[in-house]
Amino acid sequence: MATTSKVKTIGVLTSGGDAPGMNAAIRAAVRRGLQQGVQMKGILKGYDGLMNEEIIDMTARDVSDTIERGGTILYTARCAEMRTPEGQKRAAETCRKYGIDGLVVIGGDGSFAGAQKLAALGINTVGVPGTIDLDIACTEYTIGFDTAVNTAMEAIDKVRDTSTSHERCSIIEVMGRNAGYIALWCGIANGAEDILLPEKYDYDEQKIINNIIENRKKGKKHHIIINAEGIGHSTSMARRIEAATGIETRATILGHMQRGGSPTCKDRVYASIMGAYAVDLLIEGKSDRVVAYRNGEYVDYDIDEALAMKKQLPEYQWEIAKALSYNYSK
Ligand code: ADP
Ligand code: F6P
Repeated sequence: MATTSKVKTIGVLTSGGDAPGMNAAIRAAVRRGLQQGVQMKGILKGYDGLMNEEIIDMTARDVSDTIERGGTILYTARCAEMRTPEGQKRAAETCRKYGIDGLVVIGGDGSFAGAQKLAALGINTVGVPGTIDLDIACTEYTIGFDTAVNTAMEAIDKVRDTSTSHERCSIIEVMGRNAGYIALWCGIANGAEDILLPEKYDYDEQKIINNIIENRKKGKKHHIIINAEGIGHSTSMARRIEAATGIETRATILGHMQRGGSPTCKDRVYASIMGAYAVDLLIEGKSDRVVAYRNGEYVDYDIDEALAMKKQLPEYQWEIAKALSYNYSK
């Protein structure tokens, strides 16, 4: 199909931490762009690939058999140089050299900050929210969260089985350095006794210990504590709890397994729509935008506006998470 758009060539990159569903977004961007008569290029390893000119042409075939795969076929990286004005200039120059007049950046807030800098240098950019942490303020959905939280939930169920058999206490650390969404969701989904989130750091360890002792007296066989990565020290906390309660306590850190694996149906579908939407925006001549999902609709925001927004942990969800735990409902 011939294009009337001024944008002739669109590049796609993934940046920051990878997330299941990124491939669905890449595939959708590539196929939507080709369908609209635009040339599509893949930039490898995020902004690093722009610095080092690691750029490939992408055909519809290149994204075959990728929607079901975890990770990102374009690879990802953290690129310190992109944070400097010289690096940003270099990245914009690479775009111009390769005729890339539109860029889809799939990543988190940091990656969007890079896109914002490129937009200021005249490269049309659109961000797509890709992070398992769900910590992008402008959107209720981020690529990878659904898969990650399901992976963590299944793992926690398994730990709970052995924890009950051995009548132990278990601390399970999930990802989220600055955000507690995975911990909060798993806290509800796995029926945890305690949920520790970076947003609610003022937890009382002595209270947790007292609850474990009291619950044990009432015959409870296990005690599950879900700890967001941002709280940290899960292993030393386990040692302290064991010493104070006399109940065997183990820490399990789920780690990067939460970032891998085949994406869920939700991640495949939402990521596909967002990837295509980003290309549509560029073809319409828009730039400096972020794709989002809000109030049941796919929408877009100015990047400055999106980055200035603050995300608040849903207080009612937090209240109910606590209300449903054995500690508080008795
Ligand atoms: P995420 O995109 O998941 O938030 P990072 O914060 O690690 O992940 O950011 C990914 C990359 O985006 C960084 O390695 C860097 O190349 C680029 N980046 C981050 N912040 C900025 C910034 N303020 N200006 C320009 N580029 C940035
Ligand atoms: O993808 C987001 C995230 O998983 C955070 O929760 C975590 O702090 C970070 O990535 C760790 O990433 P890496 O180990 O790649 O630095």
